[in-house]
Amino acid sequence: MTDGVLRFGADYYPEHWPETRWTTDARLMREASFNVVRLAEFAWSKLEPREGEFDFSWLDRAIAVLHDQGIDVVLGTPTASPPMWVMKKHPDAYRVLEDGRRLTFGHRRHYCPNHEGFRESTRSIVAAMAEHYAANKAVIGWQTDNEFGDRCYCGSCGRAFARWLAKRHGSIDTLNERWGTVFWSQEYENWDDIQLPSRIARAPNPGLQLDYFRFSSDSYVDYQNIHIDILRRLCPDQWITHNLMGFKYDQIDYFDLAAPLDFVSWDNYPRLAWAMVPEVDVPAVALASDTMRGLKRKGFWVMEAQSGSGGWEDISVAPRPGEIRLWAWQAIAHGADGIIFFRWRTARVGAEQYWHGILDHHGEVGRRYEEVRRMGAELARVGGKILPTQPRAEVALMLSYDSRFAFQAQGNNPAFSYPGHLRDIYAAFHRLNVMVDVVSPEADLAGYRIVLAPALHVLPAATADRLRAYVEAGGVLLGTARTGVKGIHNEVVDAHLPGLLRDVFGVRVEEYDSPALGVATQLRAEGAGQNLTGDATANGWCDILAPEGATPLMVYEAQHYLGRAAVTEHRFGQGLALYAGTFGNAALHDHLASRLLDAAGLAEAMRPAPEGIELCWRQGDDGTRLLFVLNHGVEPRSVVLTEAFVSLIDGLPVRGETVVGAHDVLLLRTGGNLI
Ligand code: GLA
Ligand code: ZN
Repeated sequence: MTDGVLRFGADYYPEHWPETRWTTDARLMREASFNVVRLAEFAWSKLEPREGEFDFSWLDRAIAVLHDQGIDVVLGTPTASPPMWVMKKHPDAYRVLEDGRRLTFGHRRHYCPNHEGFRESTRSIVAAMAEHYAANKAVIGWQTDNEFGDRCYCGSCGRAFARWLAKRHGSIDTLNERWGTVFWSQEYENWDDIQLPSRIARAPNPGLQLDYFRFSSDSYVDYQNIHIDILRRLCPDQWITHNLMGFKYDQIDYFDLAAPLDFVSWDNYPRLAWAMVPEVDVPAVALASDTMRGLKRKGFWVMEAQSGSGGWEDISVAPRPGEIRLWAWQAIAHGADGIIFFRWRTARVGAEQYWHGILDHHGEVGRRYEEVRRMGAELARVGGKILPTQPRAEVALMLSYDSRFAFQAQGNNPAFSYPGHLRDIYAAFHRLNVMVDVVSPEADLAGYRIVLAPALHVLPAATADRLRAYVEAGGVLLGTARTGVKGIHNEVVDAHLPGLLRDVFGVRVEEYDSPALGVATQLRAEGAGQNLTGDATANGWCDILAPEGATPLMVYEAQHYLGRAAVTEHRFGQGLALYAGTFGNAALHDHLASRLLDAAGLAEAMRPAPEGIELCWRQGDDGTRLLFVLNHGVEPRSVVLTEAFVSLIDGLPVRGETVVGAHDVLLLRTGGNLI
């Protein structure tokens, strides 16, 4: 996918700047060792100013200027910002919000993915671009649209939803049965009767709600296929990707969106989501990269890497000296094979005037450019050694979009967040510097020693069977509260919890309690859990467990369930299944992580490091191991290297106690052929 080149560059908008400036930009990019830029993903109005009238001349010239400096190009299909003539032609293609309000012109992502006329306009611009650039040697690949997402509640979606439901459920009687529409007299007579769910009136039918969220996800997958079909047909020599939004984005099943792509890209803004928070959530950023790698279980690109303060309205904390490079190296350590910074130069106009790029508004080079240039020089030296290696993990974290969607409709407890819970469990492994793959509920689990399947709320029988077989064959499994509660139509199972996995966990949920916000219930270690020390608490949920073959590891210290099991483990077949009937605090997650790693025979993989230090490995088939020592802290730290390494950059030996500076990174290599 990268023709043996680790790609490095920026998102560039030549249409925002005078043409006389382009050569200066291209020269500065070459001096920073760029070998790629992304162009045109919002340039529809400049490429097709009027219906059917295409103008590629300016883009051809920009590409030529860049290519002269040895820089290749990724082109975005520009559909995320349909221009005025498109919207005038299809006035009912504006996206509609859940409360019925229709978007207006003047922003972006204002279209409905199901609108037939808009889809026709999409085909036309994508085909024209594809025809024009298929043979252009500078164009190596395509990005579909830009950050697909946002649910639509318009009439086109309503009609498409009815068709989607008819295909899924076959008959209206079946749908009534599966959704349980007998409740509150909600039976439907015809497909046309079904209206889009709205939470304005609270609590829509859970079956309707989950199916609508699935449909909405499928709508973007389907809309993306319009782009992909055309590009595959007309541009067989160029690859296709899309820029996804990491772990946090929750309205599209990213496994589905990624399936038809050649590889996944994503947009990494560590100081965006927590804009005004002084600390970056390092494990969350790591989890995002691991999720993106997990979507296709292969290397990915960062298509937008933060290179300045973010800001549409307020302006976020500026990346500290070293952070732009550190985050880029962190992404590479987690499997990135391409880093593209957002954006080359801060725009003087438009909604993103304060979304800072490598260059500030004035266009002169400064500290952020120098940092990027330094990294470019490093990659030019060592990129070729990194590409043949990949992160490898023996621990898998299962991410279920069905469960995520179901929890969006019914949160269960206000202290609980499904993505937050996954992040917290992941963070315990991250603190131990154990690499984790993020996998789908359909993934083949055979290669993993540990599978973390927290809060697998909507549990299809096939997934339960896969997990059962996995443990039987010797795997170590973690399940947590609210597992196995729902069948695939969002109906509660007619069984004791954890439903289909009751035998595997050897435990029955006798009763549960959904504690009030802020209430933490103390946990006490028991039996085999005695070596677990620290201040573990149950938070957000308390399952009262009746062991059926499992042994308790922790019990509650309060309420009517004082002394009752909260965490259990169960030998099942050749393996072990741990069940934590709560969401818990970090101390609990630390206990669980070390217990699981111990049980899986991976105790040696635990490598706690000084505060702020993250360790990651990429491995090659020839036995090469690359170690990335990333210091996210503001103080220099020393690490003790017990093996002989060579520094990747200068080939010098490194061993024993070694200092890594604030926001700096050590790139080390061992194994394979060291010379
Ligand atoms: C997203 C988009 C970009 C830009 C940045 C900053 O990631 O893909 O076009 O808007 O955010 O806002
Ligand atoms: Zn719509």
